Amino acid sequence: MSDYLDRLNASRDYILARTSIRPQIAVILGSGLGGLVDEIEVEAFFPYNEIPGFPISTVEGHAGRLVLGKLAGKNIIVMQGRLHYYEGYPMSKIVFPIRVLSALGARSIIVTNAAGGLNLNFEPGDVMLITDHINAMGTNALIGPNEADIGPRFPDMTFAYAPDLRALALNIAKREHLSIQQGVYAAVSGPSFETPAERRYLRIIGGDAVGMSTVPEVTAANHAGMRVLGFSAITNKATGEPDQQPDSHEEVLAMAQVAGQKLIQLVRSVIEAMPTLDYMPSEQIIELIDEDPIQIAGIIDHTLLKPDATSQQISQLCQESLEHKFASVCINPIHVKHAAKILADSNIKVGTVIGFPLGAVVAEDKVRETEQAIADGATEIDMVINIGALKEKNDSLVEGEIASVVRAVHSRGVLCKVIIEAGLLTDDEKVRVCRLAKKAGADFVKTSTGFVSGGAQIEDVALMRQTVGPDMGVKASGGIRTLESARKMIKAGANRIGTSTSVEIMVEAKEENS
Ligand code: HPA
Repeated sequence: MSDYLDRLNASRDYILARTSIRPQIAVILGSGLGGLVDEIEVEAFFPYNEIPGFPISTVEGHAGRLVLGKLAGKNIIVMQGRLHYYEGYPMSKIVFPIRVLSALGARSIIVTNAAGGLNLNFEPGDVMLITDHINAMGTNALIGPNEADIGPRFPDMTFAYAPDLRALALNIAKREHLSIQQGVYAAVSGPSFETPAERRYLRIIGGDAVGMSTVPEVTAANHAGMRVLGFSAITNKATGEPDQQPDSHEEVLAMAQVAGQKLIQLVRSVIEAMPTLDYMPSEQIIELIDEDPIQIAGIIDHTLLKPDATSQQISQLCQESLEHKFASVCINPIHVKHAAKILADSNIKVGTVIGFPLGAVVAEDKVRETEQAIADGATEIDMVINIGALKEKNDSLVEGEIASVVRAVHSRGVLCKVIIEAGLLTDDEKVRVCRLAKKAGADFVKTSTGFVSGGAQIEDVALMRQTVGPDMGVKASGGIRTLESARKMIKAGANRIGTSTSVEIMVEAKEENS
């Protein structure tokens, strides 16, 4: 193993040994934006200079510590203070913390910075959602030997700022009546501010804001497969026009506080709404239910997908879910509104199925169905893939349709499960579709619709878990009727169970408990 990976593992292990928080979302706080930390229920913090292998920040206004805790119910990790290229660090050091955040399990990262407004319409105090960036730093964060264990040699940057997270941020800003700008962030090395001619140049080539950070971290985050959301606090007019005023770091910090108020509210609400895999690893679930079998309710999707289900049966399903505290109800789209009303004041999710049960409708229909279901109140979406296309090895179609549904789902703060219908697939096809689902950004892979004979098989669950690794969900469904069979699925790697005999399973669990 390289020295770099050794140091990375040392940093990761140091933190893992000192906190039980496993972060889902990472946040980088830029100049003057430290106030977000006041909103966090802090569980642990680590000054950078105490973490083995970690570089130390020197610039004024940057505390330089990692903070772990809960914000809006989510486990988060915050980099309070970042490293800048102008401080003299090599890029490999600047992006080191991002790799630690990724190694700690954060799959999404929210990056913030202070920036000058190149766009003539921007005012100091504005918040800009970053849609894309221009690297004008004169170097790239990934230059040097590639660590294949971290990411690919030539990472794609087409969706450097995740479209679904951007859409989610825009939806939330609208809902909370926060006006935000959107634009392209241009990064320069600094530390001198730009000349007027440089600023006009940066605007002409497509920049809306200019700053001295963010691009290296976003590049490294994309390299590591993280999903990125970025915001700039516009601190000064940087138009390079004849009325251009001189710049000062003090003024930048002062205006960062102003924009920071709005930004903190926005980031908090986005974190609250972000879909995260709030599930336990299956080993932990087994431990929990060995101790207290009733806890299994928390991972059960209480399911009724029969075509002849009546509203009355759906009401009963919801009541049972409230009584036993199941994770969700899983029902046909036609019943979503009704269930959402009954479950409105509970934590129980309303799950529904898309392209059900055959999967053989075009992607546009799946997206339309998804949007309607979410508008009706669905908070989890289980979509059936185009099984024929997978068999024809049309992987780009399968990945594309999953990605379209994932975008529609994530931009509305909802989780996406991909039903692969393992009973119809060869092992090679199961592996291929699991990889496609992971690449397309889905949250779970799910074995079956329950409409094909066979249902969930232990070997399938194990293969799916092995393929997707620890940071995706695996849902076993179809034919699971007893506590014993549910346990076997969890042992094989499942962390969600879909079943219509949930109540019977709970009766067993209670008996086992007594
Ligand atoms: N230029 C570069 N970085 C900045 C600026 C700017 O005008 N404002 C805040 N950070």
